[in-house]
Amino acid sequence: MWLQAVLLPCIRLYLCGVKVLLYQLFNRAFALPDLLKQNGKVAIVTGGTRGIGFETAKHLASLGMHVVIAGNESEEGSAAARKINEQGNEGKAEYVFLDLTSLKSVRQFVHAFQDRGLSLHVLVNNAGTMLVSEKQTEDGFELHFGLNYLGHFLLTNMLLDLLKRSGKHGCCSRIVNMSSATHFSGVLDISDLNRRICYSSHGAYSQSKLALVLFTYYLQECMTAGGFSVTVNAVDPGMVDTALYDNLWSLAQVLKRPVAKMLFRTPAEGASTAIYTALASEMEGVGGCYLYNGQKIQSSDISYDSELQVALWKKSCELVGLQDA
Ligand SMILES: *[C@@H]1O[C@H](CO)[C@@H](O)[C@H](O)[C@H]1NC(C)=O
Ligand SMILES: *[C@@H]1O[C@H](CO)[C@@H](O)[C@H](O)[C@H]1NC(C)=O
Repeated sequence: MWLQAVLLPCIRLYLCGVKVLLYQLFNRAFALPDLLKQNGKVAIVTGGTRGIGFETAKHLASLGMHVVIAGNESEEGSAAARKINEQGNEGKAEYVFLDLTSLKSVRQFVHAFQDRGLSLHVLVNNAGTMLVSEKQTEDGFELHFGLNYLGHFLLTNMLLDLLKRSGKHGCCSRIVNMSSATHFSGVLDISDLNRRICYSSHGAYSQSKLALVLFTYYLQECMTAGGFSVTVNAVDPGMVDTALYDNLWSLAQVLKRPVAKMLFRTPAEGASTAIYTALASEMEGVGGCYLYNGQKIQSSDISYDSELQVALWKKSCELVGLQDA
């Protein structure tokens, strides 16, 4: 049981990491093409206070967007917004508190945003945590599942009407979900999403990233079926040197440092595929894709399982108390 539930997910996850590093050793980071100005458009970036989220927010603001950085660290968030605004962009950044581990906080964030009467053209679901020890969210969900996936599930669904209204034919609103190559090692058990049976942080992390990909595909289908001008894509930033790796096992920590120097991408490089997916004209009207290093690639076989997508959707609606649209 322990072998299967704890050791295997761990080995699979690290193997995944090695594969990505080998790829990064032999391939250059994706270079972002020039993007058109986006003056007057509005974006929300979760986890935009640092790392990839910060680089994404900075770039969107430099193109003239009004960027709302949503995060749970108020001081860091205000400092991030200030730093972006000091660069003299045409756009602007502001920080708004959002704790994705609390469904109540998600609802408050959305209601406050709706009250401002702004449009919403881009939503980047970037915030995430990795490999923390077993913990629960305010609402009693396993932390990886609750934060990386379920909080974003509710946020996205509550903002969906606004995204639909802000998108136009030929100029779709765009949702970008940050996934990760670790989803390839993800296993999802609908009857034990909170991993109560036998906890493994590695398994929980991979599962949360797989859930994101399943959702991306399902939501795109709904948007297409309804004729809405909203596209949804999942993005894999590669292995980037950010605080995400603070919770690796200590041996892996020691190995990580020199490896990270040589092979990890910088946060700016990690952000480039997300920015590309959010804004590039090449991606207009393109949804339901998984992008890595600026290219569309196949995600794991299981992520295309439409029965699993529907089951997860239904279950997620139930868990956050949303009516199945
Ligand atoms: C923000 O969220 C992260 C991830 O759950 C957590 O580690 C951190 O302590 C939180 N910060 C605050 C100020 O609550
Ligand atoms: C993003 O993930 C959330 C769940 O975390 C899901 O509700 C939403 O449909 C996904 N959207 C896209 C565009 O991937």
